[in-house]
Amino acid sequence: MINIIVACDRNKLIGHKGKLPWKIEKDWNYFLNKTKDGILIMGRVCFEDFESYAASREVIVLSKAHSGSFKNAHRCYSLIEALHLARKSKKEIWICGGKKVYQEAMPIADRLYITLIDSNFEGDVFFPDWQETFPREISCIESQENKIKLKFLILSKK
Ligand SMILES: NC(=O)c1ccc[n+]([C@@H]2O[C@H](COP(=O)([O-])OP(=O)(O)OC[C@H]3O[C@@H](n4cnc5c(N)ncnc54)[C@H](OP(=O)(O)O)[C@@H]3O)[C@@H](O)[C@H]2O)c1
Repeated sequence: MINIIVACDRNKLIGHKGKLPWKIEKDWNYFLNKTKDGILIMGRVCFEDFESYAASREVIVLSKAHSGSFKNAHRCYSLIEALHLARKSKKEIWICGGKKVYQEAMPIADRLYITLIDSNFEGDVFFPDWQETFPREISCIESQENKIKLKFLILSKK
């Protein structure tokens, strides 16, 4: 199973200067919990922020330009190569961004785990439209942190 996992605000914002635009513990714990036994695929910028967690899980970093390897992670030059490697592990595959990686993975992913954060933040990276690609709701859990409403949605294709 190939899953996409993301959290976005009301404007589909996902990132700010290479980091998450927010600190929302419930969502971060949700991400860590869902992905803990899987294999994670992410772009180089995401990995630079995620590096300290890489020792405790299996990660594939996508990079074309970077020379050398990444600490505690496999390195691949394309999503296709990463998926080929990930499938060998027999683990659940988690596509963790950023923007272009999400775009490329949408047609081939089975499920979208999306946290809708009911607030507006400042940032520079946005999640693509997903509603037509993932129209079916599998589950929806509502929560709240510091007065910000959160919706943990699991969506699938038709
Ligand atoms: N809210 C969320 O759930 C969430 C999730 C993910 C990310 N984010 C945020 O989004 C931002 C990072 O996303 P981003 O889109 O700016 O960057 P990114 O996708 O993490 O990294 C971009 C880099 O990844 C490499 N790359 C991407 N696609 C590739 C491909 N198909 N093949 C080979 N290499 C590929 C390239 O590295 P080289 O330049 O080395 O070739 C590219 O420059 C951060 O702010 C992060 O916090 C948020």
